[in-house]
Parts: sequence; C-alpha cells; structure tokens
Amino acid sequence: MDSIFLPSTTTVILYAAIVVTFIFINERRRLRKPPPSSVAVKRTLSGTMGWPFIGETLDFISCGYTDHPQSFIDKRRLLYGKVFKSHLFGSPTIVSTDAEVSRMILQSDAKSFVPCYPKSLTELMGESSILRINGSLHRRIHGLIGSFFKSPYLKAQVTSNMRKLLMQSMASWNEDRPIYIQDETKHIALQVLAKALIGLDPGEEMEFLRIQFQKFIAGLMSLPIKLPGTQLHRSLEAKKKMVQLVLQIIRDKRINGSSVLQDSKDVVDVLLNDKSEKLTDELISDNMIDLMIPGEDSVPLLITLAIKYLSDCPKALHQLKENLELKRRKKDLGDPLCWDDYLSLPFTQNVITETLRLGNIIMGVIRKAMKDVEIKGYLIPKGWCVLTHFRSVHLDDNHHESPLQFNPWRWQDRDMSSGSSTYFTPFGGGLRLCPGLDLARLEASIFLHHFVTEFRWVAEDDTIINFPTVRMKNRMPIWVKREN
Ligand code: HEM
Repeated sequence: MDSIFLPSTTTVILYAAIVVTFIFINERRRLRKPPPSSVAVKRTLSGTMGWPFIGETLDFISCGYTDHPQSFIDKRRLLYGKVFKSHLFGSPTIVSTDAEVSRMILQSDAKSFVPCYPKSLTELMGESSILRINGSLHRRIHGLIGSFFKSPYLKAQVTSNMRKLLMQSMASWNEDRPIYIQDETKHIALQVLAKALIGLDPGEEMEFLRIQFQKFIAGLMSLPIKLPGTQLHRSLEAKKKMVQLVLQIIRDKRINGSSVLQDSKDVVDVLLNDKSEKLTDELISDNMIDLMIPGEDSVPLLITLAIKYLSDCPKALHQLKENLELKRRKKDLGDPLCWDDYLSLPFTQNVITETLRLGNIIMGVIRKAMKDVEIKGYLIPKGWCVLTHFRSVHLDDNHHESPLQFNPWRWQDRDMSSGSSTYFTPFGGGLRLCPGLDLARLEASIFLHHFVTEFRWVAEDDTIINFPTVRMKNRMPIWVKREN
C-alpha cells in the first residue's frame, strides 16, 4: 500500500512504467481500428496529441506530483480554450474544464457516454459492478442504494455506530504523542461502511475484511497482468475471499429469514429484498466489495482535509464553536445527538462544502463516447475519452472568488445539500451522482463535532499530495489536548 502512495522516486518510476505499458497496450488496440471521425475533431478542437503512443501522459503525471497540479491543464486552457484535445493514458482524450460541457456529459445516458477506468480497475471490479454496468440494471441498483443511504434508518444506524467507534478511538488518543488523523479516520470509516453495506460488526471477520481489502486495493493501479505472483493476481485472490465472506452472510440471512420481507438493515438486505432476478447472490456480493472502493478512502480524506484547512484558518475554527452550543443545549435537555442535529449546523456544513471544493478528492471523471456527440458546438468523436475536470471548475475564479482560499463563508445562505450544481460537482452528477454523498457529509459532521468540542490541537506541518490520489504526505499528524 505504502509504496503506491509514497511519492518517492521509485514510485514515480514505477508509475511511469505502468503508464507507458498501459499506453502501449491501448495504443496497439486502437491502431487496429480506423480512427473515428478524427478529421472533424481537428477542425473543431485545438490541442496537441503529444508523443506517439504516450501522448501527453507523462507531462500530465509529472504536473500531478508537483505543488501545482493544475499547471498541465492551466497551460493548455490558456492556449486552446476551456475544452481541448490531448492524448492521455493511451486514449485520444478531450479535456473539459467548461462547467456546462461537463454537466451535459454527466447528464448523458449510456447511449452517448459510458464510464472509463484503467484496465486493472475494471478487472478487479468485475463485469456486473455498479461502477461498470449501464442501462436499466444500473439505474435499479443505483436507485436502491441511493435511497437506502438517504433513509432515516440508515442515518440513525450510521450515527450511533460512528459515534461509538469514534469514542473508542478518541479514548485511546494520547496527549504525548501525535495522532495521525488520516489513519484514525480510515480505521473508523471502513467499519462504518462495512456495517452499512453488509451488517458486519467489529470482530474477527471485520479484521479479515480489513486485511483482504488492503490487498485488494493495492491492485487498483497495478499492471493489468493477471499471472500468479503479480499484484493484480493477489488482489483478485483477496477479492474472492471477501466475496466468499459476503456470500456466507447472504446465506445466513436467507436461512434465518432475517432480511427477506422485513425492514432492510443494510445494503445487502435492500438488494435481497428486490424482486429482480438479475440481482443474484453473486452479483450482490461482488458489488458489496466494489462499493467499498469509492467509499473507503474518500470520507477519511474529506475529514482529514477539513482538519488541515481548519488548522490553517483559526477564524473558521472559532466559528465552528457553534458545535459547543449544540452540545450544551442537548446536554441541558438530556438528549443524545441524533443525525439531523449533526447536520443542522450551517457553518459546519459550509466547512464541509468548502473542503469538498478546495480539496477535490475526486479531481474529475472519465467517460468514453459511444457515438459522435456534439456538445456546445464541440464534436466529441466516437471512441474518444472525455475527462470532465471538476478541479478546474472548482478553482476557476470566474465561478468562485479567490478560489485558492479556504473560505467557508462563501457558502453562507446557499443550500448545497443536493451535492451538486453546475459549478460544484465533487460528487459528480446525472445518473451516476454519488449515492454515498449523504453518508459522507454525515460522517464528516459527526467527526468534526466531537473533535472540535472535545479537543484542542496543534497540527504538525504536512502537505497535500494530489496524484495519483489526494492524500496527506505525512498522514496529518496532530498533537491533541482534551478540553475540560
Ligand atoms: C467525500 C466523499 C465522496 C466523494 C467526493 C465521492 C465522489 C464521487 C464521484 C465524483 C462519483 C461519480 C463517479 C462517476 O461519475 O463516474 C461517485 C460515485 C460513486 N460513489 Fe462516491 N464519493 C464519496 C463518498 C462515497 C461513499 C461514502 C460511498 C458509499 C459506498 C460512495 C459510493 C459511490 C458509488 C457506488 C458511486 C458510483 C455510482 C454509479 O456509478 O452509479 N461514495 N462518488
């Protein structure tokens, strides 16, 4: 895991090797087919396709590792405009930094655009993964999961579970050694997710899941070779073991009759209760693991980044003391906090929204055009990829004043709970709008509430790394002191 995330020279070289191999394989595949509509593109879009085979990928990656990850895009945007062509990760690609073009792409259905992931990732996800499938089955599963994650039942369950895990974790925090926020939040978030998805409680099976999941995600960005001994092979083996665990949970539920025809307690129940024959036990168990991919890392990062930004902005931290008032009020009434208490504090929500804008945990998404599509006068040829680059829009001073400043006050009096607007898309949009967005906000609100009301802290220097995924270089060490 560490070797993937530490931006050492070895890692850079490893990535370059992986990328070149991807590109080579993809390019050979592409060259076998005639290039679709490329003449039309030359007329409508500016940009450069870079070197043969590798295109502009190495430039894109090396900029990603610097303190100015935007430099690749900013430079080209100045030269070619908000939408330009390039050649990235083995595919001719159109990069959209235009909020309206990106919105239209996200709103399109699978007849026009489908998701596009690196080969190793699609291998690990399997064919029936919600992240890969399209059409009516996708809509069905997405709808079922999305509405369960929005349900008061799930929110209440997540609240009590998260609070319990957080209290246990905080009780072990020592004042004479640093606490690594990124690790602490990861530890908690995976358990909250496993409970919400498959009803798993802490214990041996949870530990087994945690170990196998680490092996599994180590392969997400590996070479797409499945031979024994390779990382991809090890990750697939780990996934098989996790799928077996979920299949056993499903069998137990069926034997006990605990889920069928009763209220759903977790996502497995929701899918088992659905009458569609397409939702086989294998599909459900496979998808439970795939659902952990977007859920596992993103929430810990949201919380970690919020704490990073707050550490650098005492004024915002001071205003977060609205949480103290809530705590006092609830204590006077003798009530425990429930999920809508945590979500009720406007400034806390603004801090989360601003963290999502500035942090850009998901910098953008890639879609592949299934036919020639014209959007706002730009022709996107069949077979090309489009990178809808959220970060460019979130950091565009035409849409957000002083965009590099952490300024939660900019969201005052704006309701951002829907998770998405044209100029703010941290959770994507359209048919694939993140179904976990309420869960993410709730978990972050709970963590922030207990953290700011129970501790004072001093953060050690740390920097945000933006590539290949967003994370803190030193896992965000802080020194805490308990409030009396
Ligand atoms: C801060 C936290 C999170 C962020 C920023 C985030 C962001 C995103 C984005 C941008 C997408 C759109 C991908 C696309 O259009 O291809 C997405 C999809 C998705 N997210 Fe999240 N996510 C977060 C948390 C979660 C959580 C907690 C879960 C829970 C399981 C989750 C589950 C999913 C799933 C299943 C999809 C795929 C939806 C589909 O393809 O239909 N996410 N997320």
